[in-house]
Amino acid sequence: MKPVVGIYGLGILGSNLARNLGLRGFELALCSSLTDSRPENRPQQVISRFPELSTAKGFETISAFLDGLIPARIVIMMLTADESVDEAITVITPHLSKGDVLIDGSNSHYSDTTRRYHQLKVSGIHFLGCGFSGGLDGIANGISVMPGGSEEGYQIARSVLESVAATSVDGSPCCTFIGPEGAGHFVKIVHNGIEYAEMQLFAEVYAILRYAVGLTPDHIAEVLSAWKDTDASGYLLDITLNILRQKEGDAFVLETILDSAGHKGTGVYAVQAAAGFGVPAMMITAALHARYLSGQRHIRTHLDEVTRSQPRKNASMGTTDLYNAFQLARIINYHEGFSIIRAVSAHYQWNINLAELSRVWTNGCIIRSSLMNRFVKLWENWDDELVLHPEVKTLIAATWPGLRRINHVSSSESLFTPCLVAASQYIAGASLRFPAANLIQAQRDYFGSYGFRKVSDPTGPLHHFPWRN
Ligand code: 6PG
Repeated sequence: MKPVVGIYGLGILGSNLARNLGLRGFELALCSSLTDSRPENRPQQVISRFPELSTAKGFETISAFLDGLIPARIVIMMLTADESVDEAITVITPHLSKGDVLIDGSNSHYSDTTRRYHQLKVSGIHFLGCGFSGGLDGIANGISVMPGGSEEGYQIARSVLESVAATSVDGSPCCTFIGPEGAGHFVKIVHNGIEYAEMQLFAEVYAILRYAVGLTPDHIAEVLSAWKDTDASGYLLDITLNILRQKEGDAFVLETILDSAGHKGTGVYAVQAAAGFGVPAMMITAALHARYLSGQRHIRTHLDEVTRSQPRKNASMGTTDLYNAFQLARIINYHEGFSIIRAVSAHYQWNINLAELSRVWTNGCIIRSSLMNRFVKLWENWDDELVLHPEVKTLIAATWPGLRRINHVSSSESLFTPCLVAASQYIAGASLRFPAANLIQAQRDYFGSYGFRKVSDPTGPLHHFPWRN
């Protein structure tokens, strides 16, 4: 018999998850979050809108909602970014008992999830922080599910979580137990960091083809549709092609949209994790800051007056170079993401399995693409940084010149392509050939007497130089 699942929070995320579970035949109990400003009969409104929820029951009070569930209860909180998960836990847990499972399905910060996991463990409640990825399309096709926290809780809720998951490359559900504490939410924020940089890369390719080459959006779609048969194929390419072709009257819809990118915070968490754990993540950071800069309309309006330069609109470049540049930058982006995961997983001893995680990301999630299928195989036999894998090293050697040529075009046309530049700069910075950080060490020793190591003895003792003599 399938368990009855309680869903707390009926905004877009909550009602979509409810529809997803309803379609898969689960009995559901639905309750709005107490902080929801929508009308009191919200559960009933949601139920009456969607036929797949016709057997679901709506509740107006927490006690009616939870007391009706059969132990072990499975309750999924689906709260929006501005609703408090801690507040929800405070009102829900008095109605739960030892052995029940409470799941946070929002994009919480992983350190909050770790704290909540330990807090609830004391009373025997299994807490799971679960990353869900897939947006609105995931309702019909399934999503990527990234649960972390109580493994016992995962086993109890497994059939529920697996039922909403997309089917992965090997036919199994895009769902796996990621690791203890906040591991599930942690990989979801890294997923989003990768997502930010990949979206930014598409924006940069668009900018190059639109402004340097002078193609219209539908012609750009023609160029990019050739990538569908390659490792670039995936969800973000598909939706980008669709967006580029949409017209409203004579206008391309894309060109009617103000270029100020929004964000809901997970990109910030990814950049904070990279910075906090000393992992270089120049592309993910550049993508976040590009969104910030796009929103600074005041500065952009004023600087536009002094920096205005007209792109030629007929720049020539090889489409193979553009494809190679894009793919190489994607690899560097994934390297950054996996590198953050390796560092954080090692620190907390979460033992995150990158082959399994890549498998969960082969379908359902926003960053699903053919490339991910390759990562599943690669991580099965590799336990080091992605850029050090022989295949990746060969790819870097073959495609870096093309990336540099593309960056040359975009720079001479005054375009804004920070992620393509960051990818190329990552490779330059990861080489030992042109040392420059020695000057930084000399300056640090000069003003702070922090010491430096010698080229002749890289792991040896610190030295000082009497700079002021
Ligand atoms: C997903 C998305 C999703 C994302 C929100 C907000 O995997 O389904 O990543 O969870 O967090 O759509 O994204 P923004 O930060 O861009 O607003």
